Amino acid sequence: MTTKVELNASANASEQTQIPNPPPEHVAIIMDGNGRWAASHGKPRSEGHRAGTENLRRIIEAFIRHGVRYLTLFAFSTENWNRPDDEVQTLLELVDSVIRSEVNELHSEGIRLRHIGRIDRLPTDLRRSIRESIELTKDNTRLTLCVAFDYGGRAEIVDAVRSMIADDVQAEDVNEDLLRRYMYTNGIPDPDLVIRTSGEQRLSNFLLWQAAYAEYYSTSVYWPDFNEAEVDRALEAYSRRKRRFGKVR
Ligand code: FPP
Repeated sequence: MTTKVELNASANASEQTQIPNPPPEHVAIIMDGNGRWAASHGKPRSEGHRAGTENLRRIIEAFIRHGVRYLTLFAFSTENWNRPDDEVQTLLELVDSVIRSEVNELHSEGIRLRHIGRIDRLPTDLRRSIRESIELTKDNTRLTLCVAFDYGGRAEIVDAVRSMIADDVQAEDVNEDLLRRYMYTNGIPDPDLVIRTSGEQRLSNFLLWQAAYAEYYSTSVYWPDFNEAEVDRALEAYSRRKRRFGKVR
């Protein structure tokens, strides 16, 4: 006969042996706080974006070391066009110059580049850089780095519906699997973890469809200060989450 004490003991044992989450396969980051970082250092906003861009390499490497296979970075939203012209210009130039200067190194490290978002509104040179870097790195398998540029989750759903209509998809054939294949992220697993820096607690139109069951982690640290120790903290928090996907454990 099982006694009350034995029942408690076995409940404790099962809690202790609970396997923590393996590293997330896909991490998506809302890199927020560049402007506030700049203000806190008495610098113009453009310097915040520059510092944020210089932060990319160490963070990409840190996630690779932790076994992450897909990393998505929210670099420019569909709403960011409404910022002052000089700031938009800075962001367009930064992304173009970082792609041009880093693509060979990223390629030699086995990183595959993907772009998610609308491409038609970007300057011709940037479009070319994006297309060439995607082509060059398309067979790499160590990490898939998705750059969300002119990206909006709502725009993505609108574009998916438009493409389905253009393909003559019939209403009765529409289901979640089909819609998933019309998203910009086709072929990329859903994010397991969404990180937002700078303390804000919202998704801001980021991966609305894909993040349905992602774990959300917010840190007050501004993006340029988000370092390897912060990566460890985010992954440690993730490892303690109980992911249920709407089911009962
Ligand atoms: C949010 O900070 C940050 C952005 C809108 C831009 C992020 C882009 C980069 C770091 C460049 C990335 C380049 C590549 C290639 C991925 P904010 O300006 O909204 O900051 P604030 O809320 O403090 O004003």
